[in-house]
Amino acid sequence: MSNETTRLIEPTLNLKDDFYSLAEEFLAEGDQRYREAIGDFERFIQLCSDEAVGRNLAPGRVPQSIFWLVRDGRRILASSRLRHTLNTFLEQVGGHIGYDVRPSERRRGYGNQILRMTLDKARDLGLKQVLVTADSPNGASWRIIEKNGGVLHGEALSQHTGQLLRKYWIEL
Ligand SMILES: CC(C)(COP(=O)(O)OP(=O)(O)OC[C@H]1O[C@@H](n2cnc3c(N)ncnc32)[C@H](O)[C@@H]1OP(=O)(O)O)[C@@H](O)C(=O)NCCC(=O)NCCS
Repeated sequence: MSNETTRLIEPTLNLKDDFYSLAEEFLAEGDQRYREAIGDFERFIQLCSDEAVGRNLAPGRVPQSIFWLVRDGRRILASSRLRHTLNTFLEQVGGHIGYDVRPSERRRGYGNQILRMTLDKARDLGLKQVLVTADSPNGASWRIIEKNGGVLHGEALSQHTGQLLRKYWIEL
């Protein structure tokens, strides 16, 4: 990792082919999260820029910025979502920030890196503290949150997944 350059960028049409290959990796492990995005990639990119400024928000959606952690300007390593505010669902389940690492790039510190860089973006937005959640069995995820200053504020059964969920607050 020493000579590589990684940057956090907004989603761009320029990385379409790489985004497709990333989505395929998720699909191959049974994770559908990017299926819709590759179904209409141009629309996905438009949606990202609209949601980032709170334009044309669908009912129940709050403004959200999406970021990609990119290596050497061409390989998407991880993705994060920063919600600018919370609604009831986000307070209970999703929190301010979600992230995921490309399956073939896991266990190399990128999960930790993308949360750290997304916290900088949250600071830039003027947020003073953020809620980040992780399913209790997802030890990798809550270790990342704890490394980034997360203070555990309890565990609850998620109505959404039926699993125990850890809730952390991070002071910025
Ligand atoms: C959870 C996830 C983000 C971790 O990303 P990653 O890039 O592999 O994480 P890192 O390399 O930064 O590792 C973070 C820590 O978790 C540990 N870890 C990572 N994967 C692990 C695994 N499968 N089992 C056990 N520990 C694991 C690492 O050893 C490291 O711990 P350490 O710092 O104490 O050594 C990634 O597995 C993922 O995208 N999963 C699917 C989506 C998801 O669960 N997102 C989080 C929900 S908020």
